[in-house]
Amino acid sequence: MRELELDAQSLRTVAGRYATGVAVVTAVADGVEHAMTTNSFASLSLDPLLVLFCVERSSRFHEALKQTSHFAVSVLPEGADHTARWFSLRGRPLADQFAEVPHMRSEHGVPLVSEALGWIECSIHSMISAGDHDIVIGSVEKLSISEQDAAPLLFWKGRFHGLPGS
Ligand SMILES: Cc1cc2nc3c(=O)[nH]c(=O)nc-3n(C[C@H](O)[C@H](O)[C@H](O)COP(=O)(O)O)c2cc1C
Repeated sequence: MRELELDAQSLRTVAGRYATGVAVVTAVADGVEHAMTTNSFASLSLDPLLVLFCVERSSRFHEALKQTSHFAVSVLPEGADHTARWFSLRGRPLADQFAEVPHMRSEHGVPLVSEALGWIECSIHSMISAGDHDIVIGSVEKLSISEQDAAPLLFWKGRFHGLPGS
């Protein structure tokens, strides 16, 4: 066992050994479509149905959430690295950011990434401030899955991976 410095880089290193899935969270604020790649998504409560993800307070997605009531989660499949990278690119132009990404729209007009394995449409239940991020809790309003039961995109040690053996 090797103890690391108590800093952000070390937390990234240790937390990076925890493999996660990858999702794109989306919202519309003031007629502008917003999106952000996230690996902090989690299912939170079954009764009532709640989910959560964490958003950096300095991000444009955080700003957008303060001006809207709904968001959606699109769970990415293996091979969607390009989509994940695009929606994690800091400062990318917001206008037409979905031009090259096939998508549908929820009844609230929120983009849903077409290649996803599943979609969760939510209203914002609450946002809890914690350090440099907010924990965003969503009340689940609609759940959908793709007919295609493909493998998920994984994020581990700072890189995208497919599911071994799939
Ligand atoms: C795999 C992956 C997971 C990420 N997860 C999160 C997350 O959970 N919360 C977050 O705030 N940013 C996360 N990011 C970073 C955001 O995607 C990125 O900072 C954001 O899209 C920048 O957009 P902006 O320039 O519009 O603020 C993640 C990035 C990657 C590559």
